[in-house]
Amino acid sequence: MKVKHFLSIQDLTAAEIKTVLKGAADLKKKQHSGMISEPLRGKTLAMIFSKPSTRTRVSFETGMTQLGGHAIYLGWNDLQLGRGETIADTARTLSRYVDVITARLFRHEDIVELARYSDVPVINALTDLHHPCQTLADLMTIQEHKGGLRGIKVAWVGDGNNVCNSLMLGCTLVGADISLACPGGYEPSQEITEKAKLNARKNGSKVEITHNPEEAVSEADVVYTDVFVSMGMEKEREARLKAFKGYQVNPQLLALAKRDVIFMHCLPAMRGIEVTDEVIDGSHSVVWDQAENRLHAQKSLLLWLLKRF
Ligand code: CP
Ligand code: NVA
Repeated sequence: MKVKHFLSIQDLTAAEIKTVLKGAADLKKKQHSGMISEPLRGKTLAMIFSKPSTRTRVSFETGMTQLGGHAIYLGWNDLQLGRGETIADTARTLSRYVDVITARLFRHEDIVELARYSDVPVINALTDLHHPCQTLADLMTIQEHKGGLRGIKVAWVGDGNNVCNSLMLGCTLVGADISLACPGGYEPSQEITEKAKLNARKNGSKVEITHNPEEAVSEADVVYTDVFVSMGMEKEREARLKAFKGYQVNPQLLALAKRDVIFMHCLPAMRGIEVTDEVIDGSHSVVWDQAENRLHAQKSLLLWLLKRF
């Protein structure tokens, strides 16, 4: 039987995203009411990380505990991977022990390789190209605050990075419009943009890409930004900070959006760089709900991949 992996948000159909989001909302309610339910008792998640993490690591590990299962944190260099064992052999071995694997890696091709040789579902916990778990939590958060997704205008201001790629695909799958403002040379991947445009045509939404933050944010329901220097790009820091001048989300920029706009950020935030304290700590910010929703969305994803609903 073919195993279902979650390497890109595009691995789910719009209907499957809806199912996972509905499951996430139910799990959140249960969690908040103190109900204990352990459908993953006896199940183990292996978590391979070759980059740092606060939210992804803790939400996956806590999520497995809450579902009655167990999670093992494995730094790349704690595994024999760090000494040259192949990704394929690691996947074959881990598949004999655990029920599901999540991995945060640099090259997207590496997680594709891991999934190719794994007999259990592989979940992308972030690569240089995608961050689909983030998108699930983002869509859940937008739905909670805006009452739906179709026709919502999401404005992305900043780097056309992994979080942006996944958000663009996710929005266009569920019928939300996305308007991006990125400096020249920092637009999202061409291939992913084409995919998103195709999604948009199929699902009746729009993708716009500009170099003008004011234009992208105009009349937006959601304004979203992320760091200008992603993990692994530290050497480009100086050039990037120069290129992203004028792309900060501050109260003046946010004022151009709808009055009831929500501000989102996947976190960690570099306060004073891509966003000001007034915005991230202000009344429009939903970043803590967004961070919390990582937990519920990933619990739902785990249950869905392990065929619990
Ligand atoms: N948003 C996110 O993935 O955060 P971490 O890097 O802390 O996991
Ligand atoms: N774009 C950021 C996201 C961190 C969650 C990075 O890749 O570092």
